[in-house]
Amino acid sequence: MFKINQNYQKLPGSYLFSTIAQKVSAFTASHPDKEIIRLGIGDVTQPLAPAVIAAMHQAVDEMGNAATFHGYAPDLGYGFLRDAIAEHDYKSRGCAVSPDEIFVSDGAKSDSANIQEIFGQENRIAVCDPVYPVYVDSNVMAGRTGDYDSKAETWSNVIYMPCTMENGFVPEFPKETPDMVYLCLPNNPTGTTIPKAKLQEWVDYANKVGAVIIYDAAYEAYISEPDVAHSIYECEGAKTCAIELKSFSKNAGFTGVRLGYTVVPKELKCGEVSLHQMWARRHGTKFNGAPYIVQRAGEATYSPEGKAQLREQVAYYMKNAAAIKNGLKDAGYTVFGGVNAPYIWLKTPGNMTSWEFFDYLLEQANVVGTPGSGFGPSGEGYFRLTAFGTYENTLAALKRIQEL
Ligand code: MLT
Repeated sequence: MFKINQNYQKLPGSYLFSTIAQKVSAFTASHPDKEIIRLGIGDVTQPLAPAVIAAMHQAVDEMGNAATFHGYAPDLGYGFLRDAIAEHDYKSRGCAVSPDEIFVSDGAKSDSANIQEIFGQENRIAVCDPVYPVYVDSNVMAGRTGDYDSKAETWSNVIYMPCTMENGFVPEFPKETPDMVYLCLPNNPTGTTIPKAKLQEWVDYANKVGAVIIYDAAYEAYISEPDVAHSIYECEGAKTCAIELKSFSKNAGFTGVRLGYTVVPKELKCGEVSLHQMWARRHGTKFNGAPYIVQRAGEATYSPEGKAQLREQVAYYMKNAAAIKNGLKDAGYTVFGGVNAPYIWLKTPGNMTSWEFFDYLLEQANVVGTPGSGFGPSGEGYFRLTAFGTYENTLAALKRIQEL
């Protein structure tokens, strides 16, 4: 008789955003007349930039011609895209990342879930609390997290770094020494971040204790303050301790297109073993490359017109962020984030739990958000709203919340 991966049995409930989608479907089925505004999952609403569309059209035409047709993509990514990434995301910021350290993929969600595969079972992970659930869930599936305590909502073999109002949502170095540290900056879900000098301390710490940092920079394009690093490789010594994950979903509106990349520096080694070679081996075996059309779309985001159009798109969403943040403040809410990230993190009013506030908002204002406790126990009593809606819906949602 076949056996299943028992680790899956340990996972509590369903994936956070699937649970929310189910709740919203149930509500809409029983209230078909209500117009729901969705500010829950961080899904973009603006159309692809014209430069991206033009590149995709051209790539489609190439695919329709035998002379310019493309079959399997190179498994690590086309040279034209890796070169553009190295030039615009790294060289221009003074980071020495070469094109062959960049692994193009179908998005940062898969990479953030898959990267743990190249690490030993016995590694201890450290995560911020609250945290993007994929990091923990993927380690649960791999059997690295120990047992689940349903009361505390924690795993016995995970080191949690609470990020709360009291510490300004900044993770502190854990008392126990981790082997792998997941950092998402600017942060999902709290929308906060840390200055570059603080990130440098994390790099120094990781190099000192021999830990690897899995650095999720998916929201980098939303940074507005000058002292915040856009890449961990802006920090001295990061190439010997950090893997960086990047996404086109949020900076270029590719949530439905699917494109991302991971940087695994050649200097990153465990003894004599190169993690770069391991990830290349993994990619080669398990991945057949992001589609040609999509990689050409990605390349177009780095053209002068593509960059200008995407700056406008980011500004559009950050206008939403400012509107939510200021509007909620005016209504008496305590709010965080929204300055370097498209997420607003608010304290739930009264003594409502995160899920109570979710239900209240859904039922009374027909607005969907994300309960903070879904991201971890320290998220209890908080709530996340995304700035990725349309401006009109954002203002309408805000008005409904203010009128509660
Ligand atoms: C979120 O809402 O946290 C993100 O959209 C999820 C993701 O990027 O996978």
